[in-house]
Amino acid sequence: MRYFRRVLIAALIVVPLAASYATAGEGGKESLGAKTIAPPSPVWVIGSYDADGQPNMMTASWVGVCCSDPPCVTISLRKATYTYGNIMENGAYTVNIPSRDLAPVAAYTGRASGRDTDKFADTGLTPVKSELVNAPLVAEFPLTLECQVIKTIELGLHTMFIAQIRDVKADSSILGDKGAPDPAKLNTFIYSVGGYGFYEVGDHLGDVGKLSRRYGSGK
Ligand SMILES: Cc1cc2nc3c(=O)[nH]c(=O)nc-3n(C[C@H](O)[C@H](O)[C@H](O)COP(=O)(O)O)c2cc1C
Repeated sequence: MRYFRRVLIAALIVVPLAASYATAGEGGKESLGAKTIAPPSPVWVIGSYDADGQPNMMTASWVGVCCSDPPCVTISLRKATYTYGNIMENGAYTVNIPSRDLAPVAAYTGRASGRDTDKFADTGLTPVKSELVNAPLVAEFPLTLECQVIKTIELGLHTMFIAQIRDVKADSSILGDKGAPDPAKLNTFIYSVGGYGFYEVGDHLGDVGKLSRRYGSGK
């Protein structure tokens, strides 16, 4: 009985210590492992043509702006996607940025493949020919970037396509006073990695210049 009590006490002390050792990282934060967790992840719908000139749409979140001058973006695709072959063929893609009403479209284009089905026909959306790059714009999306691939980098599971932005096409209804897209009007959304789905972008927190003044004058 005494032996059993000693084992129980030891377990009560050692198990919580071991558990905290396993998860504690720098600064007392929990380690989540080497994963692609870097919220917020954008939701872009990539437009491309296949070898027969059929337009396709695919959702991508491993994406971002990567240079201001020349203006460039990057997307990273698995070779298994139909879009990967399309972009290798044509060296171009469009980035179509959805408003919240297009969330079901962005979900569908991220699950179905253009190899098996015509996603434009399925969703009733309209491909529009670009005059600048060999990739289709999607008419119903409020904001589209027309992109010419300038560099392809093999990273592992994903291949990165860095492209120069040749033009940005916007519906006038989403533009703010300064002529740039107003987040409140664009009403886009983000992807939460880990299966939690799409989230709306939230409130305006303040002008960057004014916010930074709490700590000094900056530039
Ligand atoms: C929110 C979301 C984000 C995604 N991001 C990517 C991505 O960045 N790269 C990728 O290769 N696949 C990504 N996918 C998966 C592709 O969209 C999916 O495999 C799609 O069916 C490929 O279409 P395609 O074969 O017509 O090109 C994502 C899917 C979802 C739902």
